Amino acid sequence: MKISKKGMTRKELFKKLDERRADDLNWQSGKVFGYVFDPGKEAMEIGKEVYSKFLTENALDFSVFPSLLNFETELVAIAAEHLSGDNNVVGNFTSGGTESIILSLKAARDYCRVHKPEITDPEMILPVTAHAAFHKAARYLNVKVVLTPVDKSFRAIPAEVKKAITPNTILLVGSAPSYAHGVVDPIKELGELALENNLLLHTDACVGGFMLPYFKRLGEPIPDFDFSVPGVTSISIDLHKYAYTPKGASLVLYRSKDIRKHQIFACSHWTGYTIINNAVQSSRSGGPMAAAWAVLNYIGDEGYMEIARKKLDATKRIVQGVEKIKDLRLMAKPDMCMFSFTSDTISVFHLIDEMNSIGWYIQPALTFENSKENIHLSINYSNVEWVEDFLSDLEKSVEKVRPVKFGELGAAIKAEFANMNPDELTDEEINEVLNGLPAALRERLLIEFINNLFVFQEDKR
Ligand SMILES: Cc1ncc(COP(=O)(O)O)c(C=O)c1O
Repeated sequence: MKISKKGMTRKELFKKLDERRADDLNWQSGKVFGYVFDPGKEAMEIGKEVYSKFLTENALDFSVFPSLLNFETELVAIAAEHLSGDNNVVGNFTSGGTESIILSLKAARDYCRVHKPEITDPEMILPVTAHAAFHKAARYLNVKVVLTPVDKSFRAIPAEVKKAITPNTILLVGSAPSYAHGVVDPIKELGELALENNLLLHTDACVGGFMLPYFKRLGEPIPDFDFSVPGVTSISIDLHKYAYTPKGASLVLYRSKDIRKHQIFACSHWTGYTIINNAVQSSRSGGPMAAAWAVLNYIGDEGYMEIARKKLDATKRIVQGVEKIKDLRLMAKPDMCMFSFTSDTISVFHLIDEMNSIGWYIQPALTFENSKENIHLSINYSNVEWVEDFLSDLEKSVEKVRPVKFGELGAAIKAEFANMNPDELTDEEINEVLNGLPAALRERLLIEFINNLFVFQEDKR
């Protein structure tokens, strides 16, 4: 493949771009429960405009782009106050939740290298509901993951975390909330454990950090999860999720500079310019941070409160609606505008397929530990007006898939793998197969799949 010989005209180019988009998920429909966080047309336009305005500025060197330094420090100060931090709280802007999590683990690992040099094989304790980004960070940074079970409501069990602590433990983790079930872990108890054992504790508030304080102000019984909890030493909070800023926007905060300093990378051991990075990325566009600053200030506190009120109401109506539908079962009452539900009598994979075939987008989650296969919904501002239609279509779809026989395939896979003809598997059966496999095998297969997907194929359009 080579670039076009003579270059394309602007018209040709945009025509091609529109054609390529044709098969993408139609998130503008308001019927998509995930992936795109839509704040409404005006705020979206502001985000895009400011993003392009600062697209070319480079946060590689803040001394020559003081505008970016200001955006970053202001965003950190806003988040610190939002999360009950005092003036000692510091932090940095990152490209997303995963980068914030990688950095928080790097800071913990390198902090312990200095303060606990006796630890040579560091371990991090993760409730099984902690986001996969922690596993990624652990693999990148060579830290051992110690998994602990969660209770029936899918919250971390402090007694289990306590049991898992060893002389090698460097970090405890809790979620506010966990992505899969939308419930907040008992951060207060985890904080006590951290203090008793002189350990660092990270609250993963990637998805909840921005909205939960609004839900609390609306009177919801949100458990404490932020810097108001003694023992919490770092927090990740994404702006590109429920703060509705364009993608590439998250923050990682630390209770003090003493910990944050271990996040920073400096290198003078080469022949070029001295590198000092506070994030994983080195050269990075000023677009995401400028756009995040702009969208936050455009929507404003009252605007976010209004969004929170509408989403809370929509979540309650969807939760109640799902609970009323025969054959469906809520996995746990959520603390946030995201939750999962399942069924003991019908196939959730067929249900997802049926719903998605009539214009919805809902997400499957596979069995892991005490969490059986389920349907996940992240409720968005754009979904608010579709609540009744969603529930009505969900009920009809349940009726439709009720007669479908299911479950046998997953069980058969475990027993008799060799009998499968992969070419004959349907999409629902693939999910059922994955559900029947051990998690490690699933991961291996998916890595092979992605490795093959990201290779060039000529666009025939
Ligand atoms: C709780 C939680 N943590 C971390 C992440 C990872 O964030 P990102 O996809 O921005 O890297 C997510 C993403 O959904 C999340 O929900």
